[in-house]
Amino acid sequence: MKHPSPQAPARAEHPRGPVALSHVSLLGIGSSVPERRLTNADLARLVDTSDEWIRTRTGIGERRILAEGQVTSDLGAEAARRALANSGIAPEAIDVVLVATATPDQPVPCTAAFVQEKIGARNAMGFDVDAGCTGFLYALQVGRALIASGAYGNALVIGADALSLLTDYQSRETCVLFGDAAGAVVLGRERGRARITDMQLGLDGRGAHLIQVVAGGTARPTSAETVAAREQYLRMNGREVFRFAVDKLAGLTRELCARNQLELDDIDLVIPHQANGRILDAAASALELPPERMFCNIEHYGNTSAATIPLALDEALRQGRIGAGQRLILAAFGAGLAWGGALLEFEAD
Ligand SMILES: CC(C)(COP(=O)(O)OP(=O)(O)OC[C@H]1O[C@@H](n2cnc3c(N)ncnc32)[C@H](O)[C@@H]1OP(=O)(O)O)[C@@H](O)C(=O)NCCC(=O)NCCS
Repeated sequence: MKHPSPQAPARAEHPRGPVALSHVSLLGIGSSVPERRLTNADLARLVDTSDEWIRTRTGIGERRILAEGQVTSDLGAEAARRALANSGIAPEAIDVVLVATATPDQPVPCTAAFVQEKIGARNAMGFDVDAGCTGFLYALQVGRALIASGAYGNALVIGADALSLLTDYQSRETCVLFGDAAGAVVLGRERGRARITDMQLGLDGRGAHLIQVVAGGTARPTSAETVAAREQYLRMNGREVFRFAVDKLAGLTRELCARNQLELDDIDLVIPHQANGRILDAAASALELPPERMFCNIEHYGNTSAATIPLALDEALRQGRIGAGQRLILAAFGAGLAWGGALLEFEAD
């Protein structure tokens, strides 16, 4: 094992002592998707479906899928490198690496260990957070709290998932929905691009059965029988999840506004978890929000689980959809059932 050389860049000295949660800032962002594309036409060769059905019922045109030999931490590390470059912070100066994932490289150790090694964040502690499609927002809140406590100066928060691993390509109900990707942000206590001024998270285990992989854990260890029954793949109750998702997206957005004394008109853009274009349309219409203020890039990537929010945020920033002086809401939902929302306020130039 290599130890840090004496020439390694000195670790940045962070001011210590607690700060208000609302002072934790986003310092940089990056994302990464695999090269390989899986189109609706490709899926129509595997199961009884069509491009027309998939587009009208989900809004998805294609997804990106890991190449042979590529793993979740490869995507996470690339997104992290881009976020670090964007923030101007060296990997050695990172204190915490958090990886939100439901599809780790291996059961043990955590994927954060592989990402840390790949990017050279050798002074960081790190661990994984599993909250399904809400994982990135859960990890964001953990990173934010660690920084606000004064224990750590900064954190790299990554959402990386390869749901292609959990997808049953014999099931037309699920295989059309998912893709692979990663997105990452650097958080710190100094002034950055945006402050995360409020967050709200929730979990309702009564809905645990609505999105699940039944085999591979202590409840049902992997066996020849579980593999024969295809229980290593993700199953869900699409209709119930759809209803829950529309209510949660609209509810979270309203609540974040109300508890921050804001009107919906004060929010320049909502970036929701990308699960189904129709869910986003229904939530926008329930909120009476013009469609252009509900960000949607699902056509190109499908549902990439913990990666959808940082990937969409990165794209929205690159497209100039959000910037200086504006307010943004991030909102996610998924397995658990878990949900989460964040209010971001961009600094004026
Ligand atoms: C899965 C989902 C796309 C299904 O769309 P839907 O409009 O609810 O479709 P239904 O389940 O009502 O099925 C309608 C019909 O289409 C069929 N169908 C399902 N998938 C199909 C596909 N890929 N191609 C063609 N037909 C399909 C069904 O078999 C059903 O046929 P039937 O009427 O003969 O029984 C939708 O429910 C959904 O997106 N749910 C939320 C899922 C989600 O977001 N999960 C992750 C949360 S993080």
